[in-house]
Amino acid sequence: MEKPDWRSALEPAVNAALEFLEGLPERAVRPVLDPDAMLASIDASIAENGMPAADVVKALARDADPGLNAMPSGRFFGWVIGGGLPAAVAADWLTSAWDQNTGMAIGTPAAAAFEQVALRDILELLELPASCSSALVTGAQMANTTCLAAARNRVLAAVGHDVETEGLIGAPAVNLVVSAERHDTVLRALRLLGLGAGTALAVETDARGAMRPDALAGVLAKLSGPTIVCAQIGNVNSGAIDPMNAVCDAVDALRSRAPDGAVWLHADGAFGLWARASTRLRDLAAGAERADSWATDAHKWLNTPYDCGIAIVKDSAAHRRSMAVRAAYLPDPNAFAARSPMDWTPEFSRRARGFAVYAALRQLGRRGVRELIERCCDHAQAFAAQLGALPGARLLCPVELNQVLVRFADPAGKGDAARDDAHTREVVRRVLAEGTCFMSDTTWHGFAAMRISVSNWSTDESDVARSVASIARAHR
Ligand SMILES: Cc1ncc(COP(=O)(O)O)c(C=O)c1O
Repeated sequence: MEKPDWRSALEPAVNAALEFLEGLPERAVRPVLDPDAMLASIDASIAENGMPAADVVKALARDADPGLNAMPSGRFFGWVIGGGLPAAVAADWLTSAWDQNTGMAIGTPAAAAFEQVALRDILELLELPASCSSALVTGAQMANTTCLAAARNRVLAAVGHDVETEGLIGAPAVNLVVSAERHDTVLRALRLLGLGAGTALAVETDARGAMRPDALAGVLAKLSGPTIVCAQIGNVNSGAIDPMNAVCDAVDALRSRAPDGAVWLHADGAFGLWARASTRLRDLAAGAERADSWATDAHKWLNTPYDCGIAIVKDSAAHRRSMAVRAAYLPDPNAFAARSPMDWTPEFSRRARGFAVYAALRQLGRRGVRELIERCCDHAQAFAAQLGALPGARLLCPVELNQVLVRFADPAGKGDAARDDAHTREVVRRVLAEGTCFMSDTTWHGFAAMRISVSNWSTDESDVARSVASIARAHR
């Protein structure tokens, strides 16, 4: 057996990572190869004999490069994608090197403790009750799933049904109520939990894409029995935040005539929940603390590397009942006061995500978190002002947070909506082809739109100016 030679494997990785990260300011913000060309370029079968680790790493860095997107670039505005903060990226490397299976605190006191402290800090920054339980999961998809598993447990327990042992077959029906513009991961969470996405009642939204509380009250007025309501703190297109106090009032009215615990309000705040970390923006999400559970992400606005989502639950007993697992070969997780992560997550073996979250929080400090969120929103406002001033460009929604929706009229289209749709998508295509910046397109209330999400810690004014100039060229 060869002696492990870590240095010769890790040094080329450091070099390749630095080359990528330090090259971001000049690198085209798009992959060179499309997915099929990328696959074809590496699709050779495994050789009989292995290679030295250093050669593997060098070849991997070389061969992956044409298919990498400059997602951590300050000019990447597609979907909702943060870049990794330097301390968080470095901590993530250590996480791989340390390779701690972070299911049990007893197995890895360090990973469990850093995770627990990072989660405590997040509750404080987001102004959520310190008594909430929480979990680091793969992303908001699994955070929604984890929270809704706790919800399913509690609302069914309220009517005498133990879903963890008895399952859903023969269980009392659960009313599901979601915003008409809920993120699709909420529906997938309902599917994964056996609740069925198709049974959810959709509540009308307003022109900004936020749930209308009067419509919610109307839907809830007709319901009785176990009910789960899903609100949204940050519409993936517009950034609009549901009016949480009014939503909570409507839910409370239902609670007042339902058995104790039979009504649960979940809030999907994958990125928007971070508005609460800013004194300036916090009012947008006022009342969110009245919900029963919240899903958010660290890998979006906190700018940790993928993958890292956060599930937060007010009823920690329901959370634990829905997730905890025991096995004879595992030590008792209750032997210590420190929390054992696997009691709170759907995973058994799991990555030590807490190190990167802790590092991001410590690099930023309270002020840095606040400034990161506010800076991104300021850049979104700058995009709106500069793009809105272009002839033929029209903002489809006021910018509340970090998301911008803009549409471009076809200069020869004479106001024809279909031609403006086609032109808008063509502007996005041209921008991507040029490679100065990356944005995605969407359909917003029936209209094609370019959507811009400012979620990266490193975006600055010059990134916005260069991107606006590129979009203006594409529009002309
Ligand atoms: C509102 C909302 N919920 C959930 C998700 C899913 O998040 P993730 O990709 O981290 O699972 C997103 C992703 O953009 C989102 O915007």
